[in-house]
Amino acid sequence: MKLFIDTANVDEIREINDWGVIEGVTTNPSLIAKEGRDFKEVVKEITSIVDGPISAEVISLEAEGMIKEADELVKIHPNIVIKIPMTKEGLKAVKHMSSNGIKTNVTLVFSANQALLAAKAGATYVSPFVGRLDDIGHIGADLIREISDIFDIHGIETEIISASIRHTEHVKQSALAGADIATIPYKIFVQMLKHPMTDLGIERFLKDWEGVK
Ligand code: E4P
Repeated sequence: MKLFIDTANVDEIREINDWGVIEGVTTNPSLIAKEGRDFKEVVKEITSIVDGPISAEVISLEAEGMIKEADELVKIHPNIVIKIPMTKEGLKAVKHMSSNGIKTNVTLVFSANQALLAAKAGATYVSPFVGRLDDIGHIGADLIREISDIFDIHGIETEIISASIRHTEHVKQSALAGADIATIPYKIFVQMLKHPMTDLGIERFLKDWEGVK
């Protein structure tokens, strides 16, 4: 499973990229709005930090508008992936883009059938939202497993991005359920790194080493 970072904050992206563990970035309008900066400028800066797929989301609700926005966004960098909402208009836009060599990430996926439709339209990635499903009393990881099984059975190449990750357990569950990618917020990366026994172990090694000196 590949790891992407789910943020539009360039300092967070730089830090985790320096760890050498991320292969891509996902953003969404809420994450971009939090930064209070120009959308294209932020996306451009991100492409200069991470050499991998960078998802940038369209705002239009009609296929035509989505395609227009995508045509502008892909000019920023060849690594740009167009994030499209899981709607009828979104599917039409995905079909058009996949036929024209533009990579897409269909977002706001909450069922296996939605993922299947997105894949059929030619989506490069689908993003099932694990955390938001948990929020309404479902088991988000079960959806990842279902989509993964369906894609395996039918040889579908669309990659599954486990999104809306809220805690470290979601990362592990996504990996076990067969996600190709987990897109993870900065603070969860920090939590994944930490274990009290590691800190204690280092403390003990250093104390013993002091004794030798
Ligand atoms: C990423 O592609 C999604 O936009 C993001 O993971 C949503 O996360 P949230 O449900 O915590 O807002």
